[in-house]
Amino acid sequence: MKDTWEDVDEYFDDKLHVSDEITESILEKNEANGLPAIEVAGAHGKMLYLMAKMKNAKTILEIGTHGGFSSVWLGRALSEDGQMATLEFNAAHADVAEENIFNAGLADKVKVYRGSALDTLPSLMEKGYRHFDFVFIDADKENYPAYIRWVLEFSKTGTVIVADNVVRNGRVVDDETEEAQVPYIREFIDIISNDPRIEATALQTVSGKGYDGFLIGVVR
Ligand code: DHB
Ligand code: MG
Repeated sequence: MKDTWEDVDEYFDDKLHVSDEITESILEKNEANGLPAIEVAGAHGKMLYLMAKMKNAKTILEIGTHGGFSSVWLGRALSEDGQMATLEFNAAHADVAEENIFNAGLADKVKVYRGSALDTLPSLMEKGYRHFDFVFIDADKENYPAYIRWVLEFSKTGTVIVADNVVRNGRVVDDETEEAQVPYIREFIDIISNDPRIEATALQTVSGKGYDGFLIGVVR
């Protein structure tokens, strides 16, 4: 049975003009290239865009590019002189993302860095990045604890940090879950819980992608 929230997702997608030719073409290209359909929901892509716009972000870091769907949403929020770094482990996914970013007219602002994010993050300073205004974490959950530690190195007062997939159909609070990623998500939450540098909340979401949620924080 189709959940009501899928109808609601479609209703708002239509009324609030969430998708357009470019975002539709990204989803088509990702699917045609065999990428798993784990992009954020359209409404949440637009939410990320709006948040980065509210922040007036000039520098954005994304960990986990996938096919570039959220990268394009975030990249659209950048001002003319803005720059975004997006990190992707899977070379085939990075190829698709680069094409999608190019087709969205964002190739001069949004750079895809290939390889393990844990290798790329230490090299970002020599690439000219120092502090990011907005960070989106949406990669392998096992490394969320390591990613948040690095992200704090690249943060300053006011840096906005958003992380995807912190609810996982409610399994985040299920001690007996067999989902292997959950302990790492909880370790990630514990780091934030115990770090006085971040003020945070979590937003549970439903969408065509099911029941999940975002961690949202701001650095003091
Ligand atoms: C899945 C969903 C995600 O948003 C993600 O980043 C990774 C995996 C999933 O549903 O498996
Ligand atoms: Mg995700």
